[in-house]
Amino acid sequence: MALSSCSFKAIVTLAFLVLFMGGSSAQLSTTFYSKSCPNLFTTINSVVKSAISKEARMGASLLRLFFHDCFVNGCDGSLLLDDTSTFTGEKRAAPNFNSVRGFDVVDNIKSAVEQACPNVVSCADIIAITARDSVVTLGGPSWNVLLGRRDARTASQAAANSSIPPPTFNLSALISSFSAVGLSTKDMVALVGSHTIGQARCTNFRARIYNETNSLDSSLAQTRRRNCPNTTGSGDNNLAPLDLQTPTAFDNNYYKNLVNQRGLLHSDQQFFSGGSTDSLVRTYSTGQSTFTSDFVAAMIKMGNIRPLTGSSGEIRKNCRRSN
Ligand code: HEM
Ligand SMILES: *[C@@H]1O[C@H](CO)[C@@H](O)[C@H](O)[C@H]1NC(C)=O
Ligand SMILES: *[C@@H]1O[C@H](CO)[C@@H](O)[C@H](O)[C@H]1NC(C)=O
Ligand SMILES: *[C@@H]1O[C@H](CO)[C@@H](O)[C@H](O)[C@H]1NC(C)=O
Ligand SMILES: *[C@@H]1O[C@H](CO)[C@@H](O)[C@H](O)[C@H]1NC(C)=O
Repeated sequence: MALSSCSFKAIVTLAFLVLFMGGSSAQLSTTFYSKSCPNLFTTINSVVKSAISKEARMGASLLRLFFHDCFVNGCDGSLLLDDTSTFTGEKRAAPNFNSVRGFDVVDNIKSAVEQACPNVVSCADIIAITARDSVVTLGGPSWNVLLGRRDARTASQAAANSSIPPPTFNLSALISSFSAVGLSTKDMVALVGSHTIGQARCTNFRARIYNETNSLDSSLAQTRRRNCPNTTGSGDNNLAPLDLQTPTAFDNNYYKNLVNQRGLLHSDQQFFSGGSTDSLVRTYSTGQSTFTSDFVAAMIKMGNIRPLTGSSGEIRKNCRRSN
């Protein structure tokens, strides 16, 4: 039996609707606040710059907030919610506890934004812009940030535990965890170039510097052991730079280190360990511009993970709690 032209049209229309609604990125736009908050970018940028001038590492910490927000039920500001006696947020989840930082800077940005344009800009969008501004301030590429995300009223510690990959993962487990949020292997290898800035704690690289002598440059192992004792519980929070040479410059040195067996985390070295991502790491290690253009594309893609839009969620007044 042939479909009538009318029901055919209805099906085509439905298919289009499903396509557009399914690709939620179609709802974000670079001009979302151009009328409602024309000074948004300059307001955020000046707070980001002053925070980074006080402490260069802050740029790395702010960039990481965006990753840890987006991987857990989408880029919805859920990471920023504080725990209360009746609410368990994501800050004490395994990948975040004693590790994610920069919440005070986000508070300062939010206050400045609320002063400029009250009740219109979401915390989720603030961390998307803040991540871009941090990268730019540390010498990396710029891009136009898609906006229009709204803030979640909820958070999930369980999802934070299970969705953010730990540094003990092997390559195939890392590929799966990025694929679970719609990011490709190429997106992953470009995004992890973020480890060209920032610091890691001894507890996250101890096993590597004592036990992975086959895949770790011995002089780096010696150096890192000096400030990371081999006993669990001792010196756990001692810091070392993820990129040993230029930890406050957003460059492609991270990949050069991987090629030289100088990845600090087990997960870092997985990207150059005889597997499918070796050739991409080599490409990025020699070409800064290929890295930066792939990085930008992947940041935009990460920012499109399941945003709340329209009338879903809310615009929080204070990033630490639901209104
Ligand atoms: C590939 C999977 C990834 C793993 C397993 C991973 C793991 C880690 C770990 C263990 C640390 C150190 C945390 C600590 O010791 O307290 C860290 C730091 C960092 N990560 Fe990742 N990460 C990954 C991907 C990413 C991505 C995609 C981004 C950003 C787009 C990112 C940005 C950062 C930054 C900037 C830091 C330094 C933060 C600071 O100094 O405060 N990471 N990561
Ligand atoms: C998340 O991990 C932390 C630290 O391992 C643990 O204490 C907590 O119970 C976990 N939360 C959930 C909901 O699984
Ligand atoms: C990677 O880790 C997973 C999960 O722990 C394991 O099942 C798998 O065998 C590992 N793959 C390789 C190639 O080591
Ligand atoms: C190194 O590996 C051995 C054997 O698996 C283990 O007993 C030891 O605790 C590991 N050392 C570190 C520092 O992780
Ligand atoms: C850990 O360090 C101590 C002191 O340097 C040393 O005596 C011991 O053999 C080391 N253990 C391992 C597993 O490397």
